[in-house]
Amino acid sequence: MPIQKPALSEHPINTLINDRWSPRAFNSKTVENTTLMSLFEAARWAASCNNSQPWRFIIAKSEDKDAHDNAISCFNERNQRWVKNAPVIGFVCAYKLMPNEKPNRTYFYDTGMAMAHFSLQALEHNLYLHQAGGILIDKIIADYSIPADVDVVCGFGLGYQGEAAILPDELAERELEPRKRNSITEFTFSNSFGESSNIFKK
Ligand SMILES: Cc1cc2nc3c(=O)[nH]c(=O)nc-3n(C[C@H](O)[C@H](O)[C@H](O)COP(=O)(O)O)c2cc1C
Repeated sequence: MPIQKPALSEHPINTLINDRWSPRAFNSKTVENTTLMSLFEAARWAASCNNSQPWRFIIAKSEDKDAHDNAISCFNERNQRWVKNAPVIGFVCAYKLMPNEKPNRTYFYDTGMAMAHFSLQALEHNLYLHQAGGILIDKIIADYSIPADVDVVCGFGLGYQGEAAILPDELAERELEPRKRNSITEFTFSNSFGESSNIFKK
């Protein structure tokens, strides 16, 4: 049975945002290319500064064992423990320049927008995404010939949920931990940074 970890939201939110979470237990079921296309299509329609669309993806599917094995080897050892089970493994990269070759100040932000779309579209297909900053950047740059004007941002595993029992004990326990967040008052300000916004005053 898939583990459900809905947000403990204090205000009503969109169902996909509510239900998204980052499992580490994936099953081996193949993700069809037509389904993957929907995820990339969702990423494609993200907003970005001046429509610069700096996101770039590298993906490896388990059907191509050599490519999948190599992608696994580009994660740090802690992340390899779970990402090896994901039938789709990827790296999201970001192009640092605007189309006019000037620096793009928001290229990481824009790329995060695309990943947010990607993760929510995934859930519409019962697919889950687990992102990982714990990746071997220099190895990725070398293995995938990443150009100098592109940054490697994050790795990810994608797939259908598997049983927590396939994970090492420590990770299986974390699979069941409740999800936690800061309260809105801690990050929403009006007059002065750090001072809760007056929208919270009755
Ligand atoms: C940019 C980024 C980097 C992350 N890096 C890792 C990582 O290296 N290893 C890991 O297990 N999880 C990683 N995560 C997953 C987060 O720990 C997870 O999203 C967070 O705890 C919130 O949990 P939730 O996604 O289930 O709501 C990362 C997530 C993001 C967005």
